[in-house]
Amino acid sequence: MNSPQSNSSDTQSENAPKNQTASSDALQNERVLVLDFGSQFAQLIARRVRDQNVYCEIVRHDISAQSVMARKPMALIFSGGPSSVYDTRAPKCDPKLFELGIPILGICYGMQLTAHTLGGSVQACPTREYGRARLSIKDMEKLFAGFPSEIDVWMSHGDQVQKLPEGFETLAGTTTCPHAAVKHQSLPIFGLQFHPEVSHTALGGTLIHNFLYNVAGCQGRWHLSNFAEQTISQLRDKIGSDRVICGLSGGVDSSVTAALLYKAIGPQLTCILIDNGLLRKDEQSAVIREFTDHFQADLRVVNASERFLETLAGIRDPQEKRRRIGHAFIECFKQEALKINGAKYLAQGTLYPDVIESGAAPDGPAATIKLHHNVGGLPEQLGFDLVEPLRDLFKDEVRKLGIELGLPEHLVWRHPFPGPGLAVRCLGDITQAKLDVLREADEILITEIKNANLYRQTSQAFVVLLESQSVGVMGDSRTYENAVAIRCVNTDDFMTADWSRLPYDLLARVSTRIINEVRGVNRVCYDISSKPPATIEWE
Ligand code: XMP
Repeated sequence: MNSPQSNSSDTQSENAPKNQTASSDALQNERVLVLDFGSQFAQLIARRVRDQNVYCEIVRHDISAQSVMARKPMALIFSGGPSSVYDTRAPKCDPKLFELGIPILGICYGMQLTAHTLGGSVQACPTREYGRARLSIKDMEKLFAGFPSEIDVWMSHGDQVQKLPEGFETLAGTTTCPHAAVKHQSLPIFGLQFHPEVSHTALGGTLIHNFLYNVAGCQGRWHLSNFAEQTISQLRDKIGSDRVICGLSGGVDSSVTAALLYKAIGPQLTCILIDNGLLRKDEQSAVIREFTDHFQADLRVVNASERFLETLAGIRDPQEKRRRIGHAFIECFKQEALKINGAKYLAQGTLYPDVIESGAAPDGPAATIKLHHNVGGLPEQLGFDLVEPLRDLFKDEVRKLGIELGLPEHLVWRHPFPGPGLAVRCLGDITQAKLDVLREADEILITEIKNANLYRQTSQAFVVLLESQSVGVMGDSRTYENAVAIRCVNTDDFMTADWSRLPYDLLARVSTRIINEVRGVNRVCYDISSKPPATIEWE
């Protein structure tokens, strides 16, 4: 799609090891491949396909026809992308893909590339088109089966198909884009200039459903309950009688990983919780409680708070904080793991967005590695084999799986918490005293958000301890104490986010409680920046 590239690469790692987990082949035998031409929506397309109970993978745009055949997909979807087909560095696909007889749906740039490759022409529109458009549908067969004659669609393009390639016909158009939906008369090749994957396109999900079921003949075999069953049995086969170590943070990914492993191998699982002293209030005991409530597996808790505070002393630079925390984490984990006799595997809660091999160009959005990978070097340093049972799943699928596995809602719906913890929320240098203030204030915020029943409606909420002090008055005395900021955001993917419109009376309650109850804080601010240009965390 012709829009600025997002810096969404922060969830992609080029270091991610390949295919080291139990895969669920039987479930994935109805596979759809999304070819990524650099779209910020490639993951969204894959999610929409999985919403239709069809397994979907994202692959590079330049995948060869031979590799495609080897994966036996039921269909291919070409994503949008920021390029114009006429750019010298425009991402292309293997033209042989059009000869395979596999159904193809080209979206935006994917449609333009299809038309261009098959002999049509693409031209810049007189005016770029962003936003809603009214689509008139002429052909209600297959793709538009059951549709009304007009729907709203979401457009975002600078170029569009001007002349159709031979053998193609128009299914639908808008006033400015006459060929907004096209199909080949005899081959299963379709193109859409608009984006069915975004929620602004009315019936976008139905359109994707129609392509998958009416055109590609999918039957919808991808269900998380089957996934859980199969993964557990595959883990059992793979691990045999060996021991597995799993790092536990209390977050949803590591909890679901542990739950799957526990169901597969029970007492052969040992979990390690490193308390780095940067956790939230009472977090260590909460994680232990959750763990012992649900598993009878071996849990080792490492109290490493002093070690982390020591290595962070006097460090102000956020990236240096992350580097030191990552290093200390590996050291602590290694030390503890080596005490566990006979361990052969290390389990990690790697998710699908971390392992997608995609991107339009070597310097494209997907080429950058997530700066946040805190424990990237852990498996290599320990010499264990990796088990990554969640590496085929998106975050919301992990949550659903957690529920399937019987984990409690409050655990499954916990807001994400960054690996470096409170260190990146305590601006400047880190001290025990500052962390304590932050913990108290944060606890009040979360309690009040939960009491207002807004925890699930917000994606992440926390307090940041600022470095600035300000003048206040308490009783009859003048104070000169810390200011804190409340950060609360709503987001689908954490790549873009908007600040949450929390009710004023909730904000007032939080502010009053923090100032009254937390010693050392006399001012509370609310962060109303969206991402981009701000980030979610302050450091
Ligand atoms: P930003 O601040 O980049 O955050 O908008 C996006 C999401 O990533 C989380 N985050 C991190 N997670 N280690 C992590 O494991 C990190 O160093 C880190 N920094 C940010 C952040 O909490 C948000 O969910």
